[in-house]
Amino acid sequence: MLSDMDKILIGEEELKEIIRGLGERISNDYKGKELLLVSVLKGSVIFMADLMRAINIPCRIDFMSVSSYGAASKSSGVVRIIKDLDNVVEGKHLLIVEDILDSGKTLSYIRGILKTRNPESIRICTLLDKPERREVDINADYVGTCVPNEFVVGYGLDYNELYRNLPFVGVLKPEIYVK
Ligand code: PRP
Repeated sequence: MLSDMDKILIGEEELKEIIRGLGERISNDYKGKELLLVSVLKGSVIFMADLMRAINIPCRIDFMSVSSYGAASKSSGVVRIIKDLDNVVEGKHLLIVEDILDSGKTLSYIRGILKTRNPESIRICTLLDKPERREVDINADYVGTCVPNEFVVGYGLDYNELYRNLPFVGVLKPEIYVK
């Protein structure tokens, strides 16, 4: 897998430091509140697993799985819920945990769905932000770091379902995806 990388963008130690900082901020901001971390599968699982351990206040976790309605609507951001949350959202402070905020369409749609269920509050925490690619007006409340418009994989992020298990975030060599 390493030989498929152009470079390592964010190494393991840097990731740890970023997540430690996010955990500290979230712990301070949500002290005394009913926090529910919502992970959107699958890209965010590794980030979620590390972030929740960097949070030192009581919190619950839940998972959601969505799929877009085929190629045409990938661009619309309209998604179908494959696995819904187990928790009741009403009255809880929701923090959506994502690996990357790209065009913003997926998160915008998911946030819209969750808002209708009357949570006490709803915010977004993304490990990576690619602001150059944004197509809808949405920003995360907690951002690990911004990344340039390059093909990033690892630490949960995939190409063709591979590379998610890399312990760092790397840039894929173009010859891997340009065929
Ligand atoms: C990725 C990522 C976000 C979304 C961001 O998920 O986890 O959910 O794309 O893109 P957007 O801002 O342009 O909507 P993906 O659909 O690749 O699924 P995965 O998490 O299973 O890899």
